[in-house]
Amino acid sequence: MNAGQVLIQGGFTLNVQEYMSEGVDSWKSFMLLYNSALKEMGTRVEILNDEFQHIHQYNPIEYVKKRIKQPESIVKKLRRYGYESTIENMVKYINDVAGIRIVCSFTSDIYRLAEMIRSQNDIKVLSIKDYIKNPKPSGYKSYHMIVTIPIFLSDRVVDTKVEIQIRTLAMDFWASLEHKIYYKFEGNAPDYISRDLRECANIVSMLDAKMLSLNEAILEAKRKQGDPIPEAWEPSGKPPVEENELTLLHEFDRTRQKKDDR
Ligand code: GTP
Ligand code: MG
Repeated sequence: MNAGQVLIQGGFTLNVQEYMSEGVDSWKSFMLLYNSALKEMGTRVEILNDEFQHIHQYNPIEYVKKRIKQPESIVKKLRRYGYESTIENMVKYINDVAGIRIVCSFTSDIYRLAEMIRSQNDIKVLSIKDYIKNPKPSGYKSYHMIVTIPIFLSDRVVDTKVEIQIRTLAMDFWASLEHKIYYKFEGNAPDYISRDLRECANIVSMLDAKMLSLNEAILEAKRKQGDPIPEAWEPSGKPPVEENELTLLHEFDRTRQKKDDR
């Protein structure tokens, strides 16, 4: 293809490995891809949050963190897996070069959000690890997805991998502190510390469950008082139409009919 020629349509989507086999092998090219994937994913998540705020007057997302894995961490992970430190091996074996962490208010938000992301038809889910239903022996809880998202370059589209971690504020609080503590012991914490950390993880789960039921009780009480309650997040639900918008639609229909009658 000539320089400057743009070909986006027509099944020209590559995965990162195919992109590499086309002769693109510089570190910078791949970092550009992974950075773009993070931006793109960040925007998708932001849109879902904005839409939810618009429809239900409620933000399911407290905050989002994004990061690109440091070269030293990539090399360390490849070594741990028994692979040579090459760009090819990074592309093939490291799924979390681009990572996004979505921190939600309630556990119920996690699954709704995951479903919303999963159902976007250009996003491909490569794997899911549900450490909420099956916590790690450490006590770690979080919902992980490895997905690919298409990145539109000047002459091709490259499906690029992103690791998505979704968790509640309480789970994030635990994971951040546990990571700090474990880091100090370089993975060899004494038994009693690991045990206490697991106990803290249980307390955090109880807190999440309590907060969720409290929120449901508040919504129920408001419903009984006749206050308008945001509707439940239906994955494929249409936004509810406000009454004044309905009136406007009727007006619009009436005027259109009059015109048609003429
Ligand atoms: P990593 O090599 O750690 O990336 O693990 P993995 O490739 O087997 O993936 P996994 O889904 O198990 O974990 C990915 C990420 O989840 C880690 O990089 C951490 O950010 C987080 N994580 C997993 N286990 C723990 C844990 O026990 N404690 C904390 N604080 N974080 C964890
Ligand atoms: Mg990781």
